[in-house]
Amino acid sequence: MTLSPRSSVAPEDLKVRVLTGADTSLVAGFTCGEVDLDDFLRSDALRLQAHRVARTYLAFHEAELVAYMTVLADAIVLETKERKRLALSAHDHPAVAALKIARLAVSASFRSTHTGVGTALVRIALAIGADVSERVGCRLLTVDAYPESVAFYERLGFVRNRAKLYQGREHPSMRLDIFPPEPPSWAR
Ligand SMILES: CC(C)(COP(=O)(O)OP(=O)(O)OC[C@H]1O[C@@H](n2cnc3c(N)ncnc32)[C@H](O)[C@@H]1OP(=O)(O)O)[C@@H](O)C(=O)NCCC(=O)NCCS
Repeated sequence: MTLSPRSSVAPEDLKVRVLTGADTSLVAGFTCGEVDLDDFLRSDALRLQAHRVARTYLAFHEAELVAYMTVLADAIVLETKERKRLALSAHDHPAVAALKIARLAVSASFRSTHTGVGTALVRIALAIGADVSERVGCRLLTVDAYPESVAFYERLGFVRNRAKLYQGREHPSMRLDIFPPEPPSWAR
C-alpha cells in the first residue's frame, strides 16, 4: 500500500481564536490520541480560563477544529550557564519569566493528512510571549513535554532545562528563547 504524502498547512491557513462557553459540543468531538489532552479540553480548559489561570486557543482549518493550545504565565529556574546563553549575568535572579505551553494537541485524523499545525501554534505562542513581554517580563517559551513529543520540540529549537529541580521528571521541562540573536526559519 502506498501512503499519500501529507499536505503542509501554512500559518495563514489556520483561523485561531479563544475557547468560549459556546464550544462545548465542538470540543466534545476532538481527539488527538492522548486521552489526558482530550479530557483537559473537554473538562478543564474553560473552567481554568474563567479563573484566569490559563487561556486556551482553538485552531480551525476550513471550519474544522484541528488543534488547541493552552498557555499560562510561567517562570523557570536556570543554571548560571543557561542564564549566560540569554546574556543574563550570574548575579541576576535565577528565575526567568516565561510563557508556558501548558497543552498542545493536533487532532489525530487531521495529523494523518496534514503537517505544520503544531509548528504554527508554537509560532503563535512565540508571538503571544513577545506581546506579553511589552507589558511584563517574558523571555522564554516553556513546555513540560510529553515524552513522545520531545523530538517535535527539539526540532523547533527547544532545549531541556538543566536545573536539578527539573531532572527525573516524566514530562521533561524544556525552553525556547523568544528573543534569540537569530530567529529560527520556522518562526520568521
Ligand atoms: C506533538 C504535536 C503537537 C505536533 O504537531 P504536528 O502538527 O504533528 O507537528 P508539525 O507537523 O508542525 O511538525 C513539524 C515537524 O516535526 C515532526 N514531528 C511532529 N511530531 C513529532 C514527534 N512527536 N516526534 C518527532 N517529530 C515530530 C513532523 O513530522 C514535522 O516534520 P517535517 O517538518 O519534516 O514535516 C502533535 O503530533 C500532537 O498533537 N501529538 C499528540 C499530543 C502531544 O503529544 N502533544 C504534545 C503535548 S506537550
